[in-house]
Order: sequence, then structure tokens, then C-alpha cells
Amino acid sequence: MTPLYEGKAKRMWTTGNPDTLRMEFKDDATAFDGKKKAVFESKGRLNCAISTLIYGLLDKEGVPTHFVRQIDETNVEVKKVEILMVEVIVRNLAAGNFTRRTGIPEGTPFTQPVVEFSYKSDEHGDPLINEDYIREMGLATPAELAHLRESALKVNGLLGAFFARCGLKLVDFKLEFGRLAKDPSQIVLADEISPDGCRLWDLKTGEKMDKDRFRRDLGNVMEAYGEVLKRVKQQLA
Ligand code: ADP
Ligand code: CDP
Repeated sequence: MTPLYEGKAKRMWTTGNPDTLRMEFKDDATAFDGKKKAVFESKGRLNCAISTLIYGLLDKEGVPTHFVRQIDETNVEVKKVEILMVEVIVRNLAAGNFTRRTGIPEGTPFTQPVVEFSYKSDEHGDPLINEDYIREMGLATPAELAHLRESALKVNGLLGAFFARCGLKLVDFKLEFGRLAKDPSQIVLADEISPDGCRLWDLKTGEKMDKDRFRRDLGNVMEAYGEVLKRVKQQLA
């Protein structure tokens, strides 16, 4: 069997149900537009578990999502969506591209969260875009965009508070949204939520607990992901 789609970190498979897909988490890790690659044993399992728990929390809080159920250690069933080619990034502290673009030092807190959009296109290097680009590129309508921004800020509030209870600072994260295949008027949160797409720093020590350990060769990458899962599980128990 061949997957419907194989990406850098996941494979998407059909299911017996035309309205859902199976999302398989791989052990592959990539960074810098796929230029840096590695395989980490257990990464798929850890991200699948973390993402499943986070989606459960968001569902409880009334956030519409693609999540249906966890199938096994590395697979979840999700509602099939047409992914919007806009990545929504929310930042609470300066880091990563924000720091590179502005020179504002890593760790500088913001007075209010910063929401930004990028064009989901590996070919173009996921460039930063604004509302006018999104309208002219036809990536989302102004009404959809307003909804993305509002939803992303709601998710930031929920996850920021939750990770703080886990002893982790939510520095920044990326969200993807999609139009439900079954009813394209409905936009739901899609893709994964894991340390691959969230910067998480230990509140006490400031230690990085996310994919920056891989990007910057800090070592103990899966130990950090495992610790995040342990704390998330403990907090939800
Ligand atoms: P990439 O495409 O960036 O290499 P992944 O390896 O994570 O990323 O592949 C998963 C792909 O599946 C992504 O392109 C993501 O946008 C897409 N996707 C996530 N959730 C859904 C969904 N519910 N329905 C359809 N596609 C989805
Ligand atoms: O991570 P990087 O420095 O390349 O870019 P960023 O714009 O600072 O990323 C902000 C946040 O979004 C980080 O938590 C990234 O992990 C996440 N992100 C992602 O998961 N996927 C992308 N294509 C871009 C950003």
C-alpha cells in the first residue's frame, strides 16, 4: 500500500471512511526546510501521544479540530480537510525567526502575543506573508483569516496556561487549519501539536524542551520530548 501523501514527519493514509484519514507519525526529523535530517527512535510515538493529549484538551475547551481518535502508538484518525496553505504562528517571547529578523534577543517577552502568517510552501521556503498577500493569493478569505487569528489566540491562551501548569513556557508555535472535506464552510484546527512545532522552555531552568535541541545539536532530543509527554500526562491525570 502507498500512502496518499508522505511528508517530512508524517504519512497520510486513506481509511474505510471517505471523510477521515489516518495520520501516521514517523521517527524522521527535519529542520531548516528539510536540509537537516535525522531519525530519532520513538519520536513518532512521543509526538503521537503528546498531540493526542493536547487535541483532547482543546476539544474539551470547545475548539473545533480534525481529531477523531488515536488508533495505536503512532497513528491517529482525523477528519479529512483541505489544508489552508497558510501557517499561523503565535509568539509569546522572541525566538527563532523573530530574533533573526529583528535582532531582538531570544527570550524577550512581548506585551501581547504576536500572530504571523507564512505561506505553506516548501518550494518557496515558507515565507512570511501578510493579510494582503493572503487575500491576493486567494489562500483564505478575509473572514476566514479573522477566524484563524481569533482561533490561534484562543489556542495560545489555553495552551500557554496548560503548559505553565506543566512547568513549561510556551514560547511560540505553529498551527495549521483546514476546511472540512465534508463541509468546507467549517474550518478546523489540523495537523499535529507537539514539540516539533512548539518552542517549550522549562520554567525553572530555561532548558529547551523542543525541536531546537535537534536544530542546535543540543543532544538529548527524545529525552526532552519524553519529559514533555510525562508532564502533560501527569497534568491531565
Ligand atoms: P510536510 O508536508 O510539511 O512535510 P508532514 O510530514 O507533517 O508535513 O505531513 C503531513 C501533511 O498532512 C501536512 O502537509 C499537513 O498539512 C497535512 N494534514 C494534516 N492534517 C490533515 C487533515 N486532517 N487532512 C488532510 N491533510 C492534513
Ligand atoms: O523554527 P524557526 O526558527 O525556523 O522558525 P520560527 O518562525 O521562529 O518558528 C516559530 C514556531 O513555529 C517554532 O515553534 C517552530 O517550531 C514552528 N514552526 C513549525 O512548526 N513549522 C514551520 N514550518 C514553521 C515554524
